[in-house]
Amino acid sequence: MSNPSHPPAVGVLDQGPELTFPPGFLWGAATAAYQIEGAATEGGRAPSIWDTFSHTEGRVIGGHTGDVACDHYHRMPDDVRLMADLGLKSYRFSVSWPRVQPGGSGPANPEGLDFYRRLVDELLANGIEPWLTLYHWDLPQPLEDAGGWPARDTAGRFADYAQLVADALGDRVKYWTTLNEPWCSAFLGYGSGVHAPGRSDGADAVRAGHHLMLGHGLAVQALRASRPQAQLGITVNLYPVTPASDAPGDVDAARRIDALANRFFLDPVLRGSYPADLAADLREVTDFGHVREGDLAVISTPLDLVGVNYYSRHVVAAPVEGAEPEKYWRAPSCWPGSEDVRFVTRGVPVTDMDWEIDAPGLVETLRRVHEEYTDLPLYVTENGSAFVDTVADGRVDDVDRLAYFDAHLRASHEAIEAGVPLRGYFAWSLMDNFEWAWGYTKRFGMVWVDYDTQARIPKSSARWYAEVIRRNGLAAQ
Ligand code: FCB
Repeated sequence: MSNPSHPPAVGVLDQGPELTFPPGFLWGAATAAYQIEGAATEGGRAPSIWDTFSHTEGRVIGGHTGDVACDHYHRMPDDVRLMADLGLKSYRFSVSWPRVQPGGSGPANPEGLDFYRRLVDELLANGIEPWLTLYHWDLPQPLEDAGGWPARDTAGRFADYAQLVADALGDRVKYWTTLNEPWCSAFLGYGSGVHAPGRSDGADAVRAGHHLMLGHGLAVQALRASRPQAQLGITVNLYPVTPASDAPGDVDAARRIDALANRFFLDPVLRGSYPADLAADLREVTDFGHVREGDLAVISTPLDLVGVNYYSRHVVAAPVEGAEPEKYWRAPSCWPGSEDVRFVTRGVPVTDMDWEIDAPGLVETLRRVHEEYTDLPLYVTENGSAFVDTVADGRVDDVDRLAYFDAHLRASHEAIEAGVPLRGYFAWSLMDNFEWAWGYTKRFGMVWVDYDTQARIPKSSARWYAEVIRRNGLAAQ
């Protein structure tokens, strides 16, 4: 690849004072198995819900699938070299459940495990700390056929799978996160159905959320017992939820969405209880009869760290009488019981996903987790942005993405100064990849991927990030 220390675009970098991060701060980048690996039918891998979903007409833009993706399965050593060139201290990847346990239960697939063994060895040989996520949304299809996450049994299957991965990789992987963004698995997968498996039933979504957390707790117990040295956590996607005004209806809308988006997971995992207001809000949807005695104790099994994925803020309001303002949109069905909430578009700059750019929201989010929930070390396990990139003269000058990272790293630093034990930051994403229902139409990578040739081009943001890592901070101009 080209020289990663090539100076970035002038005028974008370092718009503030020099900021140094604590020694040992874990600088990383993240990916997920289905988004990059490809090789969907190789090495004994069987279909996951995302294979089925993406192969179902009308589910993913352009009919895109992860069949080939970034072909990382075949290009892994080169991709690790690229990470090493960027100076990454850590790489967060996910293990594909249907690659290592194709049926979702029963014996492991040795060829599948071997791929991750080779990946971890390659990372360690390059001085890169492997950070393993057990579940980034690719449930083996047979488990969905048996009821999926709304079925309690799936939690136990997940713990068995976690054990099998720990047996194979636990001697060389220190950092483990069980689930990535259980909100998305539950509420986009079973609530609005815009993610696999594409079901839409509010009660199922709530049940799925519970069983995901139960699976998390059981997996933590299994990992803890067999790998006492491992650092164990979960990754949740969190949003500050702000009322559009201080009118009581708007404030209540914010309370409801905060309960569904954030407290639904934070409270059980870190406090061992569901928020009382959540149960009241959802009483028309579910009676929580799926929660059994002892579940919350399992779900709140002590952790070593918490991973936070941060992208944006939600601003919400109550509906208004008569014609609604254009900037109001009705809560979609991933927010069960909250049909009366309006999401408000503020008109601030957005990314190519239309997500509002709000770096101060990251400070708020990290402070909240620390101040209201836990003293555990926190990690930003994902943060990043999609923008339309163009290749010119073999270069991709992604100034908007670079500015996004810069602003959010400044926010991360501010959180540290405010007392948050933030120990690392993972850029989403190492490279452009399959962005779920958006297919390959949204690019989040620091590295450009040419999907025709599989060529990789580090963008300006990658070169800039390499320099940030080298300095352990952001330089002043
Ligand atoms: C997160 C997902 C990740 C990626 C980013 C943009 O919700 O964890 O896989 O899609 O969003």
